[in-house]
Amino acid sequence: MHVTDLKLDLLSPGPCNGTLGSTKPVVSWKVVGDEQNWYQSDYQLRIRYEDDSEYTVFPSETSSESQNVNWPGRELKSKEEFLISCRVKGTKDDQFSEWSDPVKCQVGSLEWKASFIALEHQAREERSTATETLFRKQFSVSKTVSRAKLWCTAAGIYEVEINGQRVAEDFLNPGFTTYEKRLLHQMYDVTNLLSLENAIGARVGAGWYSGKFGFDGGMTNIYGDKRAISLVLDIRYEDGTEESIATDNTWNARIGPSVAGLYDGEFYDANAEVDGWSEPGADSSGWGGSEIVDIKTEAILPQSFPHVTAQRKIVPVECFVTPSGKTVVDFGENIVGFVEFLNVSAPKGYKVTFKHAEVLENGELGVRPLREAKCTDVYIFKGGHVKQHHPRFTFHGFRYCQIEDPDSVIDPHLLKAVVISTNMKQIGDFSCDNALLNQLHSNVVRSSRGNFITLPMDCPQRDERMGWTGDIALFGQTAAFLFDCLPMLCNWLQDVWAEQQLRADREFPYSPPVTVPDVIKYMKHFWDPQMSAIWQDCTVMVPKKLYDATGDVTILKRQYESMERWIEAIPKLPEQVRWDKSRIFMQLGDWLDPSAPPENPVKAMTDSGLVADAFLFLILTYMVDISAKVQPADVEKYRKLQERCRHDFRAAYLLPNGNLISHTQTAYSLGICFGLLSEPEIEHAGQQLAAIVAQNDFKIGTGFAGTPFVTKALFGTGHLREAYAMLLQTKCPSWLYPVVSGATTVWERWDSMKEDGSINPGEMTSFNHYALGAVATTMHEVLGGVQIALPGYKKFIVRPEPGGDITQCTVSHDGPYGMIRSEWKVDQQFHLEVTVPLNTSAEVILPNGSRHTVGSGHHVYECDL
Ligand code: BGC
Repeated sequence: MHVTDLKLDLLSPGPCNGTLGSTKPVVSWKVVGDEQNWYQSDYQLRIRYEDDSEYTVFPSETSSESQNVNWPGRELKSKEEFLISCRVKGTKDDQFSEWSDPVKCQVGSLEWKASFIALEHQAREERSTATETLFRKQFSVSKTVSRAKLWCTAAGIYEVEINGQRVAEDFLNPGFTTYEKRLLHQMYDVTNLLSLENAIGARVGAGWYSGKFGFDGGMTNIYGDKRAISLVLDIRYEDGTEESIATDNTWNARIGPSVAGLYDGEFYDANAEVDGWSEPGADSSGWGGSEIVDIKTEAILPQSFPHVTAQRKIVPVECFVTPSGKTVVDFGENIVGFVEFLNVSAPKGYKVTFKHAEVLENGELGVRPLREAKCTDVYIFKGGHVKQHHPRFTFHGFRYCQIEDPDSVIDPHLLKAVVISTNMKQIGDFSCDNALLNQLHSNVVRSSRGNFITLPMDCPQRDERMGWTGDIALFGQTAAFLFDCLPMLCNWLQDVWAEQQLRADREFPYSPPVTVPDVIKYMKHFWDPQMSAIWQDCTVMVPKKLYDATGDVTILKRQYESMERWIEAIPKLPEQVRWDKSRIFMQLGDWLDPSAPPENPVKAMTDSGLVADAFLFLILTYMVDISAKVQPADVEKYRKLQERCRHDFRAAYLLPNGNLISHTQTAYSLGICFGLLSEPEIEHAGQQLAAIVAQNDFKIGTGFAGTPFVTKALFGTGHLREAYAMLLQTKCPSWLYPVVSGATTVWERWDSMKEDGSINPGEMTSFNHYALGAVATTMHEVLGGVQIALPGYKKFIVRPEPGGDITQCTVSHDGPYGMIRSEWKVDQQFHLEVTVPLNTSAEVILPNGSRHTVGSGHHVYECDL
C-alpha cells in the first residue's frame, strides 16, 4: 500500500492547476493498494518549507481521517513554495508506509502590489468588440537565475510571452469572476525562458471585462473601458539575491493585430503584427507609452483551481459543400473551443473567414440559435507562410465550421478543432451494453466539459454563456461525480456570496442574482431583480452536493452565511414557510417542460408554487444537516422551519385522496424524493407517477426541476419497468431522442431539433446545456448502484437495479479515497464485482435482497435474479 494524490484545499498541485489561497490549507491523500479491509490508524505529515534544507516532520496523529485534515505546520507565507509528503499506518500494520513522493505546492500572492497599466491616452472604446493592447518591457539579467516566477492578472483577457515564447498553453485568463470584489491572478514558473537579454510581452483582449457581454444586446465596457495588465516577475539568482520586474509606466504599449469578442469571434489582421514584439532588441518605433490605471476591484486573489487548457485537438470527419455552395467542415462532435490552421500560404491581404454553428438546418449552418453572437473568426494574411494560427480571447460552441476561402488556400481536411475546458480530471464514468445510453452519458460528459470554462456556464455558443445559478444547482451532484470540479465550483460559490454582498440593500437583502458573476445588474433588465426557487437555491444546493461528494466541511463553513442570508431573504407568506408569489415577478418552476410552448418556457404543466415550495423544503432539509456540522445552535431553528414548510406544503398541494394538485411527473417525483410525503403516500404517489408515465408512452413530462428526480422516484417506489422504459425511450420527448437524432451533447430543450430536422422556433435553443443531463446521476446511482452513504464516499452503497434490455453495466468513480467500481452482468445469474478503496467500506445489496458489509478490496458476488 502507498500514499498518493496529495491535495491541499482539494487542489491537486501542478503547473496551471492554480495556487493556494489559504495559509493553513487542509490536506488530503489517497492510500492505494491491494490490501483487504485496510483502515488507516495513524498518519504523519512532513513539510519542507522553501528556505529549509530539511523536512519538518510533524508528530504522527492517531486518526482514520485521510481527507481534509488540519494543516500541521506554521502559517504559510505569500508566494511560498513547499514540499509535502505523507505516510500512514493501518490498523493491522506494525509500521508506517514509505513516505509518499513529495508534492511541490505553491501559495498564491496574498498581497498585490503591481500596478495596472493601460495604453496611454487611449480613447474610450465604443465598439462591440475591442482591439487588443500589446505591452512590452525589455530587461537584462547579469547573474545566473535559479528561479523565476511570473504573477499576472488583467482587466480583460491576457496572454504573456517571454522572449517570444508563451509562458503556458492556457486560455482566457484571468477568467470571469465577480470583478468588483474578486479578480484572480495566475502564476507561471518561467525559469527556463530567461536569458541574459530579455523581453516580456503581454497582450490583453477585451473579454468579459470590457467586451460585449450579455443577452438582448448586452453591453460593452461593463467593468471598465481599459484593457490593462498587472504583473510581477520575481527572479531569484543563484547567489541568493532577488529582483522583481513589475508593470509600471516605463512599459511600452500599442494596439495589436487581434480584435476579439467572446461572442463575435476574432478579426485578426496579420499586417498589424508587430515583429518581435515580445523579444529583446526589437524596434521600439510605433510603440507608445503606458499609463497607470485604477482598476476597481476589492481584492486580487490566487486562482485556486485549474486554468482553461486545450483538452484535445480533433480533426474533421467530413468536409462538404452545402446546397448554397458553402464549404463546411464537420468535426463530428459538438465541442467548445476554436479552429486552428497550420502551414498555410497566401498573398498579402487575402482573407479567410470561419463561421461556427452547432447544427445544420436544410443543409446550411444553423446560426439562428446563436442570436446576436456572430461566432465568426477572420484572418487576413500579410503574405507568405503561416505556421499556425488560432483565435485568442474568444471561444465558440460548434460542430460545424463554414470556411470562406475564395482561392482555396486552406485544405479543410487539415484543420483542427482545439477543445478547451477548465482542466478538470474526469473521475466518473459509466458504460453498459446499450450503445444509446453510453452515448447519452458521453453527451453529458461533453456538455459538462464544454460549459465549465472558468465557471459553470449555461451554454457555450449564443450571446449568453453565463453562470445561470439554477442550471448548476440541479446539475451539481452529477458534475461532482463526473469531474474533479470542486475547486472551480468553490471559486464560483465565493462569487455567489460576493454578489449577495453587492445586493445588501436590495428589497430582499443578500439575495443572490440569477446569474453569477452578475452583469445583469448593469443592464436595467427585468431579469435583474428576478428571484426564483432552484436558481437562488444554488446557495444551499451546490455546497451541499460538493460536501457530500468530498466530505470537506470547509465548503459548508465558508458558504454558511451565504446560505443563511438566502433563507432569510426568501419572500415568505405571512405565518407560513412558503414562497409569497405576490412579491416576486415569476417563479421559473419546472422550466422548459415539454408542454411549454417554444416562446414561453415557463408555462409548465406543474404548478410553479408547488415546485418552489418543494425546493424550499429541500434546502431547509439540507440546512438541518449543514447547521449540525457548522453551527449546531441553529439546528433547532432549521428543523422548525423545515417541519413548518412540510406542513404548509401538504396543506397547500396535497389532496385528501393522496394526489397532488398537479397530477404530473414532476409533482410526484419531487413529493417522493424530497421527503414531503409519508410512507403510504409515497407508495400512492409512486403508483400515480408510474401510471402517468405509462399513459404518456414512457415519454418525458418534466423540465429542469423534475428531470433529475423522475427516474429516481420510479426506481425508489419499485416501478423498475417504467423507469427503464422511460430511460430507454427514443421517441420525443425523451433522453434518447436527441441521441438517436445524432446529438453529441445534451440539449437545452427536449426538442431543440424537431423531428422534421428544423430547429425549435424558440429564440432560446441551445444544443449544449448540461441541465437535463442530470439523469446521469440515476445511471450512476441506480443502474450502476453507487450511492454515497457517508460524505466523501467514506462509506458507500452498491445496489444495482438491473433491468430493461441491459445485461451488463460498469460505473466507476475515482473518489476522495480512491477508485470505486461496480461492474455487473446478467446471464442465467446476476454477477457483480465491486472495488472498495482502502480506508472505506461499502454495503453491497444484491437484487435478491442479500446484504454484505465489506471493507477495501475486490469483491465478487452472484445471485439469482
Ligand atoms: C439559460 C438557462 C437559464 C434560464 C433562466 C436561459 O437563457 O440558458 O439555462 O437557467 O435562462 O431562466
